[in-house]
Amino acid sequence: MSHDHDEPGLHRKRSNDRTLIRLEDYCFAYEDQPVLRHVDLEIGAGEAVVLMGDNGSGKSTLLRAICGLVFPARGRYLFDGQVVDERSMRDQRFAKRLHARIGFLFQDASAQLFCSSVADEIAFGPRQMGLAAHEVERRVDDACALLDIVHLRHRAPYTLSGGEQRRVAIASVLSMNPDVYCFDEPLSGLDARTRSWLVGFLGQLKAAGKTLLVATHDQSLADEVADWFVYVGETHGYPDRPHVHINM
Ligand SMILES: Nc1ncnc2c1ncn2[C@@H]1O[C@H](COP(=O)(O)OP(=O)(O)OP(=O)(O)O)[C@@H](O)[C@H]1O
Ligand SMILES: [Mg+2]
Repeated sequence: MSHDHDEPGLHRKRSNDRTLIRLEDYCFAYEDQPVLRHVDLEIGAGEAVVLMGDNGSGKSTLLRAICGLVFPARGRYLFDGQVVDERSMRDQRFAKRLHARIGFLFQDASAQLFCSSVADEIAFGPRQMGLAAHEVERRVDDACALLDIVHLRHRAPYTLSGGEQRRVAIASVLSMNPDVYCFDEPLSGLDARTRSWLVGFLGQLKAAGKTLLVATHDQSLADEVADWFVYVGETHGYPDRPHVHINM
């Protein structure tokens, strides 16, 4: 079936047919407040997708769902053909593998950092993946150099400034070299130089074939990286750009 003739309102053309992320009628509620309502979404490997929507529309929740941090009350989620739910994630090997393949940058960097030093924080993912010590070290060095945080290596993350914490959180995602990058408001709190570096770096990740899911209110970042958009809730974004609309 050609995807060039999607139903009205779904203007996205499939840019490839290697579906990596698939949500089918996915529903999620916090307590009894529904947040994700019958979401159908398909994202192909190597696509760069930007999520846009009003505050509280469900962007962060959707990223949490994709990273396997929350589970559907109804419907299902498949990553690379495998169902991700409470049951499959109870299998430690499965959960570790999913977390190694999908890197998640939280909207609130301080909530992401829990180790006693910056170096340990950035080493955490690679160690969980069972990499050899010298490889862990190499990745920590590389990520620290890229984010310009070498001088912070021995600091406790909770003592860092907001922007410094955010750079450490980004470094801790990069050090895992995941297939999929879920970045939730990656530019917030960063200075101009770091913002422009990160926008360029996301472009490089995209060129390298990584899959990018970025929630942002920043128009220039969206313009720079998006192959297509997910408009969440009432927002309408650019009507003429490829998009799907969920949670209306
Ligand atoms: N842990 C939680 N417990 C209860 N409700 C929550 C929780 N996290 C989020 N919510 C609610 O779920 C809804 C969606 O929140 P979410 O964080 O996904 O929105 P968002 O689109 O990322 O917003 P923003 O642009 O402000 O980041 C909001 O109404 C929010 O209040
Ligand atoms: Mg959010």
